[in-house]
Order: sequence, then structure tokens, then C-alpha cells
Amino acid sequence: MKNALSRRRPLHTINYGSQQVIRPNFVFTVVIILFLGIVVEAQQSTPLITNVAARHTTSLNGRWQIIIDPYETGYYDYRFQPRSDGYFRNTKPASPSDLIEYDFDSSQQLVVPGDWNSQDDKLLFYEGTIWYKKSFNYQKKDRTRLFAYFGGANYLADVYLNGQKLGRHEGGFTPFNYEITSLVRDKDNFLVVKVDNKRRRDAVPTLNTDWWNYGGLTREVTLIEVPDAFIQDYSLQLKKGSTSEIAGWVKLNGAAAGQAVNIEIPEARIKQTVTTDANGYAPIDFKASLNLWSPDNPKLYEVKLSTATDAFTDRIGFRSIETRGPDILLNGKPIFLRGICIHEESPRGGRAFGDDDARTLLTWAKDLGANFVRLAHYPHNESMTRMADQMGIMVWSEIPVYWTILWDNQETFDNAKNQLGESITRDKNRASVILWSVANETPVSQSRNKFLKGLIDHARSLDPTRLLTAANERHYADPTTQMVDDPLGEYLDVLGCNEYVGWYDGVTSKADGLTWKVALNKPLVISEFGADALYGNHGDKGARWTEEYQKDLYEHQIAMLRKIPSLRGMSPWILTDFRSPRRPLPGIQDFYNRKGLISSRGDKKQAFYVLQAYYRELMNAEK
Ligand code: GCU
Repeated sequence: MKNALSRRRPLHTINYGSQQVIRPNFVFTVVIILFLGIVVEAQQSTPLITNVAARHTTSLNGRWQIIIDPYETGYYDYRFQPRSDGYFRNTKPASPSDLIEYDFDSSQQLVVPGDWNSQDDKLLFYEGTIWYKKSFNYQKKDRTRLFAYFGGANYLADVYLNGQKLGRHEGGFTPFNYEITSLVRDKDNFLVVKVDNKRRRDAVPTLNTDWWNYGGLTREVTLIEVPDAFIQDYSLQLKKGSTSEIAGWVKLNGAAAGQAVNIEIPEARIKQTVTTDANGYAPIDFKASLNLWSPDNPKLYEVKLSTATDAFTDRIGFRSIETRGPDILLNGKPIFLRGICIHEESPRGGRAFGDDDARTLLTWAKDLGANFVRLAHYPHNESMTRMADQMGIMVWSEIPVYWTILWDNQETFDNAKNQLGESITRDKNRASVILWSVANETPVSQSRNKFLKGLIDHARSLDPTRLLTAANERHYADPTTQMVDDPLGEYLDVLGCNEYVGWYDGVTSKADGLTWKVALNKPLVISEFGADALYGNHGDKGARWTEEYQKDLYEHQIAMLRKIPSLRGMSPWILTDFRSPRRPLPGIQDFYNRKGLISSRGDKKQAFYVLQAYYRELMNAEK
């Protein structure tokens, strides 16, 4: 692994995608890149397969053998050089004289999907490496290919099959997969994953966050069997600005040119066929008369894609989303985003995953009267966005470019760009996802602006249909005037703004005397406000940590915010209390951020009903 110093590249050579600058040490750089190319080649995951649940799959979820390895002894020798006989070999002593100092099969087990921190008290604060091993037999059918798919592993995953390195994935919240067709055998396969959740300065996120650094194979692990030539990926959404034209593309893998791909939407009497080019790619564009998706009508269509060798269905909603001046238009009509922020934390404790957790969290949001959720601060699992599709809840999806990351570092940029790409690839057919957010509370600077502009351009190149935003900060123009004028706003469709008037900034009544100025004629979404309250802790409304204080704060906030002319949404911080290593206050926080409207045990606090009443008022006003 390259150490942090060699990962830093000075600002002026950052490649944001277009303006690359050539420098005199070019020849030396080329030699290095060629050498690295060999190494990196081994690290790349294969292009992401989408809509995995609809494919022919075998789950590898369940109990996995693990080895806790704080010193990475299974990866490095005593000279801290990568070992060739590491734990990924899963070696057994061939004779009593053999020296093997590890054994997966007599080691502890952990459940996958699941973080390690909430499964074992001794791992609650653990940050480091844990090796996972899963043995399986597999009878692969002829003329098929096999992939190992990971829904997400926090943070750095080195993946091996039968002792062979498949690759390395960086980023704790996006999927990745590797082809294992040539490596898998009928019996006794062993899939080994080294998962390292150590925080790094140059990583995304960086060293400090206000959420628990849950480590492990936090999402599903699946074997995907596909035909030799299969449908790798596709994009099917309404064309930008249209409610009657579907546009997109399909990409085949392993197919010769000139393949016919059928797109059928039986309920809408649609049957279209497109033909692929030499790269297996075909654009899609056709008229369609559809029942549009919206929170009041979360209509999903069964969409069938098929070729001569492959076929599956997906459930897709079709809706248009755009802005016009300060308005956000859903299917051409102005909307107000009645939202709430959510962390991917399960009501059962630990990282959330799966349909049940998604349904519980989104049902609580619906109880509030929400039609919108901000999934903070990283891409949540796919069950969440698919459940939002079904339940009719619009989604703000974000990548963990959080606080002060290394803006002048090429690898950091490439990493953030890759996480954004994987997130968009996975969720681009979800009608619920209306906003891609590229950052949260990042300090304005030239290199930060360039970095985030690079991400915005990347998102637009991958998905021209959705809106771009970021959760930025405000400042005081004078003691009573809040300014929203982050220069990044120029490149955004929707201006996100976090503010903590009444908590980090004064007391609750401070909001009464404030007015807001928004520099750009664009929709404003207050993406965070809130206050900590321990459920059941009661007292005077001026006493912090009480439910009465939190309730009072919501009342003052709503009165202040509803006066802002360009306000088109809000997502207060936050639906439920969540674990945070930055919150040690005994008897109150106990390593929980208590800004939830619902406690970590599912109890609704007084402020929950204040926001619910406001959202009901807005809903009635829409009728
Ligand atoms: C920040 C941040 C959150 C954090 C919250 C808080 O604004 O975006 O991640 O948890 O404020 O301080 O409670």
C-alpha cells in the first residue's frame, strides 16, 4: 500500500477530467505510471453489474469466519512488506511440523451483512483490519460467467478467491464486483476479504466524521451467474424536460456487435428493440404515454429487458424533475420537499441494511408527513432507494465528501469521483432519487471549488436527468442577516444549506430576529438544523438536552424558515439518534448524537409532533 506522502500530488496537476497539465518530469512520471499500471490493473473491479436482485444469484450472506488482525500480520511481513503467503492463502498445516499461525475455520464468526462493531462488544471501537473467509461449492453451468458482488464493505477491501487476488475496492458505501469465471471450481472455493476501516487523512471521508465508523462486510455478498453475453447495465428514465419521452441506453458485456435488445413495458404497451454497436452499447429513445411517479402516486412499471441470451425485469418509475428559478418542478409542477435527514443506522443497532430496516426508517419519515429524505452523508444501501421508490419518497443521495478532505490530492479526487460514479450507476433508474449531493459542510477555497466542480461535471456527464446539490454553509452579512452565497451555488441546481441557529449558534429565540439573503435565484433547501435532546429528559424549554428545548427550537426554526421566499424544502437533522464517537457526554449522549426526533429505541420526542404539524399544514395547503 502506498504511504500517505506518495499519495499527495500538488494542486496544479490535479486532473478534474478535462484540463490535464503536462510537466517536465513527464518521462519519469510515465515510467512510474506504467509500473503502477501493472499493479493497479490487478486492483480494478470489473464494470458494475446493476439490478443484481433480478439476476441468477447465490447468496453468500450468513456466518463468515473471521480473523481480527490489528497489525495486518496476514498481509505484511515483519519488514512491513506485502507477504505472498498471507491469510488470503487460507493455508492449512500439511504436517505436524508445518508452521501456520492462523486458522480461519477454528476462528470466530461474524454475520454478513453486518458491521463488526455492533456484533461483538470488544469490537465496538475497533478500527483496523478484519479478514473474512467464506467457503462454498459451485456447479457453474456451461456458457455462463460468474461474478462475486459486494453491496458495500467499509472501507478498504482486498478481495481474493482461492488465494488469487481479485482486486481492491476503496469506499465504504458503494457496490463493486469481480469476475471469477476462470477461478471458481466445483468444490472448496474460499472467498477471502481483508476489510480495513482505518481512517486516513487522504481518504473519503477523511479522519473526522460525526458518525460511527462501522467496519466490515456491511452489505450483501452475492454470486451472480450470467450468460456469456449478458446485459451489464442500462439507463431508462424520462428525457430531461419531458414527461412523454423515455431516453437512455443499454450496455451488453461479452456480446458481438449488432445484438438486438428488447425493452418491453407491457402495462404501457411498449415494445422497443435497439441494436448494439461494437462496444455492446445502444442508445434508447422513444415516446411513451405513462402514469408518472410521484409521492402521491408511486407508480412503478415492470420493465423487461431481453437479448438472445439474457433477460430480466426491473421495477422503474418515470417522473421528470427540474428547476425553474426558485421552484423545484416534479412532473412540471412546483413542489415543496418536506424532508428529514437519515443516517444508515438500524433501529436494531449498527449499520442498517435490507428491506425491513428501510421500511421501518421510511415509515417513520412518512409518519412525520415527509415526502423527501436526505440520506446522509453517503450512499445508503439499495434497499433504501428501492423502498423509497415503492413508498413514494423523494431522495437526496450524497457521497461522503464531508468537512475538510484533501482538496489538492489527485487520489482523493479520483476516489470521490469513483464513489460518485458507483452510486449513480447503482441508483440511476430509481425514480425516488431526485438529487445528487457532492459534499457536506466543506470550507470555501479555490481548490475545494475546483474539486467539487469536477464532481458536479462528472455527475452531469453520467446522468443529465437529475439535480445537483451540496449541503453548504451560511454566514452573517451582519448580526441579523444570514447570507447564502457559497460560490459553488453557481454550478448547482438546488442550494443546500446547513444551519444550527439555536444550538451551536445562540439559543432558540435567536432565530426570531434573523432574516435570510440568498444570492442566487435558485431553490433553497435547508438541509440541516436541529438540537440534541435525550428522550424522557424533561425540564424548562431553556434547558439544553431536554425535549422541551428541542421542541422550542423547532418552533422558532419553522417560524424563521417559512419566511424565506425561495425556501423549497427542508431536511432537519435528524430522524433518529445515532452513534457518534464525537459525543461522549455521560448520561446524556453516551456516544450518541441525540438530535434525533426519535430516540435510539424508537420513542418519538416532543419535537417530532411539531414538525409533523407543520408538514400536515403544508400538505393541506397543497390540496
Ligand atoms: C453537522 C453535520 C452532521 C452532524 C451535525 C451535528 O452539520 O453535517 O453530520 O452530525 O452537524 O453536529 O449534529
